[in-house]
Amino acid sequence: MKEALDNMLEIKNLDVSVEDKQIIKNLNLKIGPGEVHAIMGPNGSGKSTIAHTLAGKPNYLVEAGNVDFKNEDLIAKDPYERSLLGLFLAFQYPIELPGVTNASYLKQILNAHRKSRGENPIDAGEFLKILKEKSRNLNIPMEMHSRFVNAGFSGGEKKKNEVLQMDLLDPSLIIMDETDSGLDVDALKSTSEAVNKLRDGKRSFLIITHYLRLLEYIEPDHVHVFGDGSIIESGDKSLASRIDNEGYEVK
Ligand SMILES: Nc1ncnc2c1ncn2[C@@H]1O[C@H](COP(=O)(O)OP(=O)(O)OP(=O)(O)O)[C@@H](O)[C@H]1O
Ligand SMILES: [Mg+2]
Repeated sequence: MKEALDNMLEIKNLDVSVEDKQIIKNLNLKIGPGEVHAIMGPNGSGKSTIAHTLAGKPNYLVEAGNVDFKNEDLIAKDPYERSLLGLFLAFQYPIELPGVTNASYLKQILNAHRKSRGENPIDAGEFLKILKEKSRNLNIPMEMHSRFVNAGFSGGEKKKNEVLQMDLLDPSLIIMDETDSGLDVDALKSTSEAVNKLRDGKRSFLIITHYLRLLEYIEPDHVHVFGDGSIIESGDKSLASRIDNEGYEVK
């Protein structure tokens, strides 16, 4: 099962509708192992819709096309299986889980992933050590882990908590939906550093952002511009600079 992959993700002729409205229109995208792809595009062009579709959010109906993830049919799997297979989505709006402390949540998801790899649950001491180290790197105070998941966390704290999760879970493909929005300059730097540390030539990234700033820290191999549910232009990182200068209107 460890054969080299040609593609981490391959999206072919994908149409997606949400509540009877077609949002994604004939989308094609290939992401190779180790590659970092960025998606930019105007509000409402369908960027989050593609992220939610890949993660398997209910109500996101695939009407046509297919998606291969690590040579498996992604759409046929439920969201939990997709996560265990190595797909991670950092949400634009992270959800709150009242009643569950952040520490126990993080430990549970880590153990679910370990179990799927045939590993034993992590012991409490080891977990605390890893949590401390990764939290320190992201400037997350340990007190936050005894609070309920994301409940009352500031916007930036929620985003950092998403980055902490991706760091714990060792995913193969990380999708970040506007993780940079709402981060202060220091947080933008520390989260970008955490992401860059995860770049190992095998793991792939799909980074949705409005801002060139993030892409100056995390240099993408490819940049795509979304418009009306599909990719309308692709290029290298100079495309991000052009968008930043000229906006989307000028062609
Ligand atoms: N349940 C729904 N019913 C109707 N339209 C919807 C529904 N959900 C999403 N849409 C529409 O789909 C379009 C794409 O939304 P999406 O969230 O993917 O945009 P986006 O590119 O991520 O925008 P932003 O940059 O603002 O985050 C929008 O016009 C949105 O209003
Ligand atoms: Mg969005």
